[in-house]
Amino acid sequence: MKKLFVLNTRNSSYIFAASASGHLLHLHYGRPVSFPGVLPDCPAAILDLTQDDEVCREAAVLFEKKEFAPGNGLVYAGEYPQLCLEDECLEVSFYGKGDIREPFAEIAYGNGSRTSDFLFESAEVMPEQEKLATMPQAAGSKDDVTQLRVVLRERYHSLKLVLLYSVFAECDTIVRSAVLINEGEEAVQIERLMSLQLDFDRTGLRFSHFTGAWAREMSRHDHICDSGLFVNRTMAGVSSNRANPFVMISDPDTTESSGECYGFHLLYSGNHYEALETGPYEKSRLVSGINPHGFSWELKPGERFESPEGTMTFCAEGFGGLSHHIHDFIRKHIVRGYWQEKERPVLINSWEANYFKFDEGKLLKLAKRAKEVGIELFVMDDGWFGKRTDDTSSLGDWEPDTKKLPGGIGRLAGKINALGMEFGIWVEPEMVNVDSDCYRKHPDWAVQIPGQEHSEGRNQRILDLTRAEVREYIIEAMTKVFSAGNVAYVKWDMNRIFSDAYSVALPPERQGEFYHRYVCGLYEIMGALVERFPKILFEGCASGGNRFDPGILCYMPQIWASDNTDAYCRAKIQQGYSFGYPPSVVGAHVSGCPNHQTLRNTPLATRFNVAAFGLLGYELNLCELPDKEIEEIKGQVLLYKQWREVVGTGDFYRLSEDGDGKVEYCWMITDKAKKRAIYGVITGVNPEAGRIYRKLRFRGLAEDTRYQVSSLSKPIDIKIFGGLVNMIAPIHIKKDSLVHNLVARYVKMTEAGESYITCGRNLNHCGLKLNQAYGGTGFNEQTRIERDFTSKLYFIEECERIF
Ligand code: DGJ
Repeated sequence: MKKLFVLNTRNSSYIFAASASGHLLHLHYGRPVSFPGVLPDCPAAILDLTQDDEVCREAAVLFEKKEFAPGNGLVYAGEYPQLCLEDECLEVSFYGKGDIREPFAEIAYGNGSRTSDFLFESAEVMPEQEKLATMPQAAGSKDDVTQLRVVLRERYHSLKLVLLYSVFAECDTIVRSAVLINEGEEAVQIERLMSLQLDFDRTGLRFSHFTGAWAREMSRHDHICDSGLFVNRTMAGVSSNRANPFVMISDPDTTESSGECYGFHLLYSGNHYEALETGPYEKSRLVSGINPHGFSWELKPGERFESPEGTMTFCAEGFGGLSHHIHDFIRKHIVRGYWQEKERPVLINSWEANYFKFDEGKLLKLAKRAKEVGIELFVMDDGWFGKRTDDTSSLGDWEPDTKKLPGGIGRLAGKINALGMEFGIWVEPEMVNVDSDCYRKHPDWAVQIPGQEHSEGRNQRILDLTRAEVREYIIEAMTKVFSAGNVAYVKWDMNRIFSDAYSVALPPERQGEFYHRYVCGLYEIMGALVERFPKILFEGCASGGNRFDPGILCYMPQIWASDNTDAYCRAKIQQGYSFGYPPSVVGAHVSGCPNHQTLRNTPLATRFNVAAFGLLGYELNLCELPDKEIEEIKGQVLLYKQWREVVGTGDFYRLSEDGDGKVEYCWMITDKAKKRAIYGVITGVNPEAGRIYRKLRFRGLAEDTRYQVSSLSKPIDIKIFGGLVNMIAPIHIKKDSLVHNLVARYVKMTEAGESYITCGRNLNHCGLKLNQAYGGTGFNEQTRIERDFTSKLYFIEECERIF
């Protein structure tokens, strides 16, 4: 062995070695380990195994002992008769020299060969990250990141592969990427270049991924992988709601609060690929990167190709702890710029209130009502430009419809500002309708295969962002829109997936570059606009969460999580996001009832209680709500403002225990100082009667702090008791009759708030047994009402430190 590479984060170590043969052997990724001369807080060290006997002795336990190659496995070379690459844990691997598992890279050479043999050449530790020219990067300063760079060289070709490992020690996260550089005389074809490969010396791992569809994003699925290949991937052209580029690997018995687990993110907004393969020799391999399907890239002499960054986060304390590290990482190193640490404004969005049917007057009416309830930002959604009365026309024509907005964006923004609110606007710049001046002028700017019929999604086509002139057009058009008034916020939408992928500007042999060039083009546009408008709050959107990934979050600090605003569906969706994304990036709105996606009615309180665990907005016609609901919303907005700092910066806990067909969500967010926490219980459909006992379980409160836990008292509409009202009424009241409605109006019933004071230790260890819930045997003020789709918030605040 030649060199040992040691990467340390606060609670993990990542170790690999360069062998005498030049291969990088992966040795350990998990709980911290130590070596003589390497302090535990040293983020990256290179140890020379040929010089240091003491390190050699200590490291011996990490190496597999090999004398002979197994069975019919291949021997790498006569010089190393025991070296069978298929039976090694490797940092990177390639087809052609005996390892037939998922490779890290595939390259086709001039002679048609696809065999690669990259061997170790050099390594160095740098105090700063190497800048990538084409891909967004986790942002770090000298204080929080150290980078290990390892250079490999292909044995028979002048190709250099640089592996980058950026250690973000405080967040227990290591970020990997790879750069391939052609130093030779002939072009090569890259058929795959992954971002990370991680080999495990065991099988039977649990692979968790998050799949879905429109309005059904981020549904978690677990698979125990003890044979074959398990793949999470998309060909949508965007990171997609079909398969989010966040996956987890864990031991099968890992739970929310115990056991080892790993989280992997890809900073990429296009076709991605995450695969876990079980090899023949008790090993598993994860690869993550650009989807190799439909991808190829010609790398000419002197050129370099960068793979997107892939993150690896380890936690030995279950998925809850893993999420905390990942949330911190996203908040500190992915989200950046002016809005990184700023509290986000509560907004009203015009979409579900008006859809395409509005004019300035209608918008201002909505804005006035929104201002009355304390909302801070007014967002004009789709429909304000061209001749856009429905979704069949005008995308690409970014001039205001003067019938709707006679004074343009500037006048409307001014009037909204005069009400004391910020103004925001919706755009979908990557798209074009065939029925638009833009398309009529530049039909070749749309993605399409000449001479072939194009498949459309939502009546629209995608602009070819691989072309510089199209990118320039978008940047200029958007600059004009964002400068037309005082624009504080932009919702950047993208409402279809790709078809007929082709660019007329690329030669036939380079069409395999299309998808990736599109993503590079998008990042270039976003980079330019964020630089021009650093104070605009960008919210990403793609029919809801069809492009929810850390790549886009490097430009847009928040994303609209789903077009599904049904509170109960949303709870599931937001719980899914919570594994890999903090609430501070998840747009969540209270909408009208019955819900427009499910036609379900849920209480206004539940709609708020779910949205309050994200970035709160309202998306309904406030002008049509009864005064009672307006008053309720005023209270909600005020409450959110008091707690949004905790929601935006705290540690998120998933605490529900589902069972007996019952699905519910119990969430807690505790601020970092452990002084305040907000707790939400959201019930779904409870299939059983008589469940009157509930205990709130807590985690992560300061043991020696005394807390007050309280809930708000709540008026009860006696109509929820239906005919039972006759149990207490002196006369018989017919359900839903005039009398029933009158009684409901004047007879006030209340569910009392609860309040307790005890220390964090008691809450963490024993939980809190709540008032009995209504169970068909009686009701008084001290009874909780827990019906289908109800919910309740509890507020936990420090009273005193005991010691
Ligand atoms: C899809 C988005 O997800 C919605 O919120 C809305 O903005 C529509 N597009 C507008 O067309």
